[in-house]
Amino acid sequence: MIKLGVNIDHVATVRQARRGKEPDPVHAAVLAELGGADGITVHLREDRRHIHDRDLFILRDTVKVKLNLEMATNDEIINIALSVKPDICTLVPEKREELTTEGGLDVIHNFDRVARTVEILKSNGIEVSIFIDPDKKQIEKAVETGARYIEIHTGRYADATTEDESLEELKKIEAASKYAADLGFVVNAGHGLNYKNVIPLCRIFPFHEFNIGHSIISKSILVGLKDAVREMKDILEKYSIDR
Ligand code: PXP
Repeated sequence: MIKLGVNIDHVATVRQARRGKEPDPVHAAVLAELGGADGITVHLREDRRHIHDRDLFILRDTVKVKLNLEMATNDEIINIALSVKPDICTLVPEKREELTTEGGLDVIHNFDRVARTVEILKSNGIEVSIFIDPDKKQIEKAVETGARYIEIHTGRYADATTEDESLEELKKIEAASKYAADLGFVVNAGHGLNYKNVIPLCRIFPFHEFNIGHSIISKSILVGLKDAVREMKDILEKYSIDR
Protein backbone atom coordinates (compact mmCIF):
# COMPACT_ATOMS: atom_id res chain seq x y z
CA MET A 1 0.00 0.00 0.00
CA ILE A 2 1.15 3.51 -0.79
CA LYS A 3 2.43 5.29 2.31
CA LEU A 4 1.13 8.69 3.34
CA GLY A 5 3.42 11.55 4.28
CA VAL A 6 1.44 14.46 5.72
CA ASN A 7 2.84 17.93 5.09
CA ILE A 8 2.04 20.17 8.06
CA ASP A 9 3.51 23.45 6.76
CA HIS A 10 0.00 24.86 6.42
CA VAL A 11 -0.57 24.59 10.16
CA ALA A 12 2.49 26.78 10.69
CA THR A 13 1.17 29.18 8.03
CA VAL A 14 -1.96 29.76 10.13
CA ARG A 15 0.21 30.35 13.22
CA GLN A 16 2.33 32.87 11.32
CA ALA A 17 -0.78 34.78 10.23
CA ARG A 18 -0.74 36.16 13.81
CA ARG A 19 3.00 35.67 14.45
CA GLY A 20 1.87 33.81 17.55
CA LYS A 21 2.15 30.37 19.10
CA GLU A 22 -0.94 28.60 17.86
CA PRO A 23 -1.78 26.34 16.18
CA ASP A 24 1.40 24.42 16.91
CA PRO A 25 2.60 22.15 14.05
CA VAL A 26 4.02 19.85 16.72
CA HIS A 27 0.47 19.14 17.95
CA ALA A 28 -0.62 18.61 14.33
CA ALA A 29 2.08 15.98 13.85
CA VAL A 30 0.80 14.01 16.84
CA LEU A 31 -2.77 14.00 15.47
CA ALA A 32 -1.59 13.10 11.95
CA GLU A 33 0.26 10.13 13.42
CA LEU A 34 -2.84 9.09 15.35
CA GLY A 35 -4.79 9.27 12.07
CA GLY A 36 -2.32 6.85 10.48
CA ALA A 37 0.29 9.06 8.78
CA ASP A 38 3.39 7.11 7.80
CA GLY A 39 5.50 10.24 7.70
CA ILE A 40 5.51 13.91 8.66
CA THR A 41 6.83 16.39 6.12
CA VAL A 42 7.91 19.97 6.70
CA HIS A 43 9.65 22.52 4.50
CA LEU A 44 12.11 24.77 6.30
CA ARG A 45 12.26 27.72 3.94
CA GLU A 46 15.07 30.20 3.76
CA ASP A 47 12.64 33.00 4.75
CA ARG A 48 11.03 30.90 7.56
CA ARG A 49 7.58 31.94 6.36
CA HIS A 50 5.89 28.95 8.03
CA ILE A 51 7.99 26.23 9.67
CA HIS A 52 10.64 27.56 12.10
CA ASP A 53 13.84 25.96 13.33
CA ARG A 54 12.22 25.32 16.73
CA ASP A 55 9.45 23.27 15.09
CA LEU A 56 11.93 21.10 13.28
CA PHE A 57 14.02 20.38 16.38
CA ILE A 58 10.95 19.50 18.49
CA LEU A 59 9.49 17.37 15.67
CA ARG A 60 12.76 15.42 15.49
CA ASP A 61 12.32 14.51 19.16
CA THR A 62 8.60 13.77 19.04
CA VAL A 63 7.72 12.32 15.61
CA LYS A 64 7.76 8.54 15.74
CA VAL A 65 7.11 7.91 12.04
CA LYS A 66 9.49 9.13 9.30
CA LEU A 67 10.44 12.78 9.38
CA ASN A 68 10.92 14.23 5.89
CA LEU A 69 12.56 17.65 5.57
CA GLU A 70 11.92 19.49 2.31
CA MET A 71 14.76 21.87 1.67
CA ALA A 72 16.64 23.92 -0.91
CA THR A 73 20.30 23.15 -1.63
CA ASN A 74 21.33 26.06 0.56
CA ASP A 75 24.34 25.86 2.92
CA GLU A 76 22.53 27.28 5.97
CA ILE A 77 19.69 24.76 5.63
CA ILE A 78 22.09 21.89 4.87
CA ASN A 79 23.85 22.61 8.19
CA ILE A 80 20.53 22.56 10.04
CA ALA A 81 19.64 19.26 8.37
CA LEU A 82 22.94 17.80 9.52
CA SER A 83 22.25 18.70 13.13
CA VAL A 84 18.57 17.64 13.08
CA LYS A 85 19.16 14.45 11.08
CA PRO A 86 15.70 13.90 9.55
CA ASP A 87 15.09 10.38 8.22
CA ILE A 88 15.00 11.78 4.72
CA CYS A 89 15.55 15.16 3.04
CA THR A 90 13.66 16.04 -0.13
CA LEU A 91 15.52 18.57 -2.26
CA VAL A 92 13.21 21.15 -3.79
CA PRO A 93 13.69 24.40 -5.74
CA GLU A 94 12.83 27.52 -3.77
CA LYS A 95 11.90 31.02 -4.84
CA ARG A 96 11.03 33.76 -2.39
CA GLU A 97 8.07 35.07 -4.40
CA GLU A 98 6.32 31.73 -4.91
CA LEU A 99 3.17 30.73 -3.00
CA THR A 100 4.24 27.07 -2.99
CA THR A 101 6.96 25.01 -4.66
CA GLU A 102 6.63 25.65 -8.39
CA GLY A 103 8.02 22.94 -10.64
CA GLY A 104 10.55 20.26 -9.86
CA LEU A 105 14.24 20.76 -9.21
CA ASP A 106 16.21 21.33 -12.42
CA VAL A 107 18.91 18.72 -11.81
CA ILE A 108 20.45 19.23 -15.25
CA HIS A 109 21.25 22.92 -14.73
CA ASN A 110 22.08 22.67 -11.03
CA PHE A 111 23.86 19.34 -11.14
CA ASP A 112 26.99 20.20 -9.12
CA ARG A 113 25.07 21.80 -6.26
CA VAL A 114 22.47 19.02 -6.14
CA ALA A 115 25.08 16.24 -6.31
CA ARG A 116 27.16 17.93 -3.59
CA THR A 117 24.09 18.25 -1.32
CA VAL A 118 23.15 14.59 -1.87
CA GLU A 119 26.73 13.55 -1.05
CA ILE A 120 26.90 15.60 2.18
CA LEU A 121 23.52 14.35 3.43
CA LYS A 122 24.11 10.71 2.50
CA SER A 123 27.57 10.64 4.07
CA ASN A 124 25.86 11.78 7.29
CA GLY A 125 23.39 8.92 7.19
CA ILE A 126 20.41 10.87 5.80
CA GLU A 127 18.42 9.45 2.86
CA VAL A 128 17.80 11.87 0.01
CA SER A 129 14.89 12.34 -2.36
CA ILE A 130 14.76 14.76 -5.30
CA PHE A 131 11.53 16.52 -6.21
CA ILE A 132 11.44 16.33 -9.97
CA ASP A 133 9.12 16.89 -12.92
CA PRO A 134 7.97 13.75 -14.78
CA ASP A 135 10.76 14.25 -17.33
CA LYS A 136 13.06 11.43 -18.44
CA LYS A 137 16.10 13.65 -18.98
CA GLN A 138 15.85 15.07 -15.45
CA ILE A 139 15.42 11.57 -14.05
CA GLU A 140 18.49 10.29 -15.92
CA LYS A 141 20.55 13.15 -14.50
CA ALA A 142 19.17 12.53 -11.01
CA VAL A 143 20.62 9.00 -11.10
CA GLU A 144 24.11 10.50 -11.28
CA THR A 145 23.56 12.41 -8.02
CA GLY A 146 23.40 9.18 -6.00
CA ALA A 147 19.97 9.92 -4.47
CA ARG A 148 17.92 6.80 -3.79
CA TYR A 149 14.46 8.37 -3.90
CA ILE A 150 12.65 10.73 -6.22
CA GLU A 151 9.35 12.49 -5.73
CA ILE A 152 7.48 13.04 -8.98
CA HIS A 153 5.87 16.49 -9.14
CA THR A 154 2.14 15.97 -9.68
CA GLY A 155 1.25 19.68 -9.81
CA ARG A 156 0.47 19.81 -13.54
CA TYR A 157 -1.79 16.78 -13.20
CA ALA A 158 -3.54 18.37 -10.22
CA ASP A 159 -3.99 21.65 -12.10
CA ALA A 160 -5.37 20.06 -15.30
CA THR A 161 -8.68 21.63 -16.24
CA THR A 162 -9.98 19.09 -18.76
CA GLU A 163 -10.26 15.30 -18.74
CA ASP A 164 -7.90 15.02 -21.74
CA GLU A 165 -5.27 17.18 -20.08
CA SER A 166 -5.58 15.20 -16.87
CA LEU A 167 -5.16 11.87 -18.73
CA GLU A 168 -2.18 13.22 -20.61
CA GLU A 169 -0.46 14.31 -17.38
CA LEU A 170 -1.27 10.96 -15.78
CA LYS A 171 0.42 9.18 -18.69
CA LYS A 172 3.52 11.32 -18.27
CA ILE A 173 3.64 10.52 -14.55
CA GLU A 174 3.16 6.81 -15.23
CA ALA A 175 5.93 6.67 -17.86
CA ALA A 176 8.33 8.72 -15.72
CA SER A 177 7.64 6.61 -12.63
CA LYS A 178 8.25 3.33 -14.48
CA TYR A 179 11.42 4.74 -15.99
CA ALA A 180 12.67 5.93 -12.59
CA ALA A 181 11.89 2.59 -10.95
CA ASP A 182 13.77 0.76 -13.74
CA LEU A 183 16.76 2.99 -13.03
CA GLY A 184 16.62 1.92 -9.38
CA PHE A 185 14.78 4.81 -7.72
CA VAL A 186 12.21 4.43 -4.97
CA VAL A 187 9.39 6.56 -6.41
CA ASN A 188 7.25 8.97 -4.38
CA ALA A 189 4.81 11.57 -5.70
CA GLY A 190 3.20 14.74 -4.48
CA HIS A 191 1.88 18.26 -4.90
CA GLY A 192 -1.73 19.30 -5.33
CA LEU A 193 -3.11 15.86 -4.50
CA ASN A 194 -6.57 15.67 -2.97
CA TYR A 195 -9.24 13.13 -2.01
CA LYS A 196 -10.38 12.81 -5.65
CA ASN A 197 -7.37 13.15 -7.91
CA VAL A 198 -5.33 10.75 -5.79
CA ILE A 199 -7.48 7.77 -6.89
CA PRO A 200 -6.38 7.53 -10.57
CA LEU A 201 -2.79 8.04 -9.41
CA CYS A 202 -3.03 5.08 -7.04
CA ARG A 203 -4.09 2.92 -9.98
CA ILE A 204 -1.31 3.71 -12.45
CA PHE A 205 1.80 2.82 -10.46
CA PRO A 206 2.77 1.25 -7.11
CA PHE A 207 4.25 4.41 -5.64
CA HIS A 208 6.17 4.16 -2.39
CA GLU A 209 4.64 7.28 -0.81
CA PHE A 210 2.48 10.32 -1.50
CA ASN A 211 3.23 13.60 0.24
CA ILE A 212 0.03 15.54 0.78
CA GLY A 213 -0.50 18.80 2.64
CA HIS A 214 -3.03 21.37 1.54
CA SER A 215 -6.07 19.13 0.95
CA ILE A 216 -5.66 17.27 4.24
CA ILE A 217 -5.11 20.39 6.34
CA SER A 218 -8.05 22.11 4.57
CA LYS A 219 -10.35 19.20 5.38
CA SER A 220 -9.03 19.05 8.93
CA ILE A 221 -10.41 22.53 9.66
CA LEU A 222 -13.87 21.03 9.18
CA VAL A 223 -13.55 17.43 10.40
CA GLY A 224 -10.39 17.39 12.54
CA LEU A 225 -6.91 16.32 11.51
CA LYS A 226 -7.04 12.75 12.77
CA ASP A 227 -10.16 11.98 10.71
CA ALA A 228 -8.85 13.88 7.66
CA VAL A 229 -5.68 11.75 7.66
CA ARG A 230 -7.65 8.56 8.30
CA GLU A 231 -9.90 9.26 5.31
CA MET A 232 -6.91 9.68 2.99
CA LYS A 233 -5.31 6.49 4.37
CA ASP A 234 -8.53 4.59 3.64
CA ILE A 235 -8.43 5.77 0.01
CA LEU A 236 -4.80 4.65 -0.39
CA GLU A 237 -5.67 1.31 1.18
CA LYS A 238 -8.59 0.79 -1.18
CA TYR A 239 -6.99 1.86 -4.46
CA SER A 240 -3.22 1.13 -4.23
CA ILE A 241 -2.02 -1.54 -6.62
CA ASP A 242 0.46 -4.27 -5.64
CA ARG A 243 4.17 -3.76 -6.06
N1 PXP B 1 5.74 17.57 -2.11
C1 PXP B 1 6.56 18.66 -2.20
C2 PXP B 1 7.97 18.45 -2.63
C3 PXP B 1 6.10 19.95 -1.86
O1 PXP B 1 6.92 21.01 -1.95
C4 PXP B 1 4.77 20.10 -1.41
C5 PXP B 1 4.27 21.44 -1.01
O2 PXP B 1 4.91 21.88 0.13
C6 PXP B 1 3.97 18.94 -1.32
C7 PXP B 1 4.47 17.70 -1.70
C8 PXP B 1 2.55 19.00 -0.82
O3 PXP B 1 1.79 19.74 -1.70
P1 PXP B 1 0.26 20.09 -1.31
O4 PXP B 1 0.32 20.98 -0.12
O5 PXP B 1 -0.24 20.75 -2.55
O6 PXP B 1 -0.40 18.78 -1.01
